[in-house]
Amino acid sequence: MSRNINKDLSAGPGFVEEINRLRRDLNAVILAHYYQEPAIQDIADFVGDSLALSQRAAEAEAEVIVFAGVHFMAETAKILNPDKQVLLPDMDAGCSLADGCPPAEFAEFLTKYPGHKVISYINCSATTKAMSDLICTSSNAMKMVDSFPSDQPLVFAPDRYLGAWVSQKLGREMALWPGSCEVHEAFSEDRIVELRVAHPGAVVAAHPECPERVLQHADHVGSTSSILAFARENEAREIIVVTEPGILHQMQKENPGKNLIPAPGLDETCNCNECPYMRKNTLEKLYLCMRDRTPEIQVDPELSKKALAPILRMLELSS
Ligand code: 13P
Ligand code: SF4
Repeated sequence: MSRNINKDLSAGPGFVEEINRLRRDLNAVILAHYYQEPAIQDIADFVGDSLALSQRAAEAEAEVIVFAGVHFMAETAKILNPDKQVLLPDMDAGCSLADGCPPAEFAEFLTKYPGHKVISYINCSATTKAMSDLICTSSNAMKMVDSFPSDQPLVFAPDRYLGAWVSQKLGREMALWPGSCEVHEAFSEDRIVELRVAHPGAVVAAHPECPERVLQHADHVGSTSSILAFARENEAREIIVVTEPGILHQMQKENPGKNLIPAPGLDETCNCNECPYMRKNTLEKLYLCMRDRTPEIQVDPELSKKALAPILRMLELSS
């Protein structure tokens, strides 16, 4: 079928109606991350952080999972549901953390750490997951690291900043793979300090994918869902938000009277605080992937079995 869009459909609210019709016809569930554009968040059956999304995927009863997020998230959903169809609106919705940990180099890296257990952040490929003992997300990273005896040497991959933050919080050294999120790495410490000066009553909430130089200015550090909880529960009327600005959609709904200030990136001329991979998905591509039932996530069954074990371990430890 052609990927062309009927003109009348693209002009009006047609995508929403068609997506709703396809959701019924396909018996599909739409899962979306907080960094997706507002229209996608609003049409999703569930919006959440990486942990909640993987928990929802694990429980899914629908025949088709439409994952409005990035590739590693949809791939995790497929590993948890090998018999279901998992669709991703844009197959190029990658992640600098997943792409920055090539399996062959990671395997070579691990040879330097005999006797170590491997904890991998969910933002990695199925192949990296298959080389890991346990998966974590930013909501449960501390708990997952802490699940190993204190004398157990650990490798943490692929986010060196999340790894360093957990390490410092738990006072526990880990060998860190040198990866990073290109979005969270691009927040400017100077501009956050300027914002604090300009808004003396504001509190700062930051994602642990940010470097330490940024996290040191934060009143709260945590996953997207914990940043949302902090914004709801904190009494401050102004919040400087140091993560991808897609989160502001839910935050504004939950905090109508508060001034939410997105932290800018390093360069004033770019939108570098927006994740270019998350933003590849659009309402139009969501409609098209449901209409055409492609792009579809495929994972080699043997690889999938190996990657499933550390994901299930994380889900068990998180329940
Ligand atoms: P969380 O939603 O788990 O905090 O993750 C953020 C992220 O970068 C997803 O790619
Ligand atoms: Fe990956 Fe960073 Fe984008 Fe999240 S925000 S998907 S970690 S590049």
